[in-house]
Amino acid sequence: MAEKYNDLLQQLDMERLPRHIAIIMDGNGRWATRRCLPRSAGHKAGAEALRRATELCREIGVEALTVYAFSTENWRRSEEEVSFLMSLLIEYLQKEVALMNQQDIRLGFLGDMNGLPAEVRSALLQALQDTAENKHMTLNLAINYGGRDELCRAARRMAGDVQAGLLQPEKIDEAAFAAYLDTADCPDLDLLIRPSGELRLSNFLLFQCAYSELYFSDRMWPEFGKRDLLSAILDYQQRDRRFGRA
Ligand code: IPE
Ligand code: IPE
Ligand code: MG
Repeated sequence: MAEKYNDLLQQLDMERLPRHIAIIMDGNGRWATRRCLPRSAGHKAGAEALRRATELCREIGVEALTVYAFSTENWRRSEEEVSFLMSLLIEYLQKEVALMNQQDIRLGFLGDMNGLPAEVRSALLQALQDTAENKHMTLNLAINYGGRDELCRAARRMAGDVQAGLLQPEKIDEAAFAAYLDTADCPDLDLLIRPSGELRLSNFLLFQCAYSELYFSDRMWPEFGKRDLLSAILDYQQRDRRFGRA
């Protein structure tokens, strides 16, 4: 029998919590299709799953949760699905701010904001501004995000700074490079979770994943509950992170 939430909670080693968790929120469409619902219902249920995951991370003291909400490749979907997702994002941002302020959660953003529709951009900017002072935890939304795109944007800005005389090429080491990424103010990524049974990164956090622990689950994101997230963290706590050492 699946272990109860409280039993799992008690097994947590609070000294070895991941500081930064990332989730590829995948499987919304299949979850809905299997229930004879439109894909949009899956995305709505996915937003609820995000709320639960955020709550758990906050409860146990994870510093940063970064979630993949819309990739640079997701524009390839039907206009109907893309516009539903954009409206859902606006709704989420507008609704969530009050709760985030109550819970002292700061919103962060990863991705290319310029490529977003104006209404999404302004909802996002508003939510970023309204939660900027919160300190307990950071929830990063990756929207119009692609790992390769992030690396190109970083390289472009770096080249600009070199041209302007602000950066010397020989000073570009891993830390200097990381400071140009969308995750510049986040701790190193400890644990990356992908539900839905797919075993790929789909262009998520390519630089940041270098030494993250990976956790895959067959559950679809809308049904991925607090217990599943706890199981992933407990699994992470059993791993021997060697970072190349013997
Ligand atoms: C993830 O669920 C949500 C987004 C990519 C926006 P999907 O919509 O990819 O769901 P599946 O993979 O088709 O089941
Ligand atoms: C990854 O899921 C992107 C998000 C969850 C936002 P996809 O469903 O787009 O990934 P692929 O196409 O299966 O690789
Ligand atoms: Mg998918």
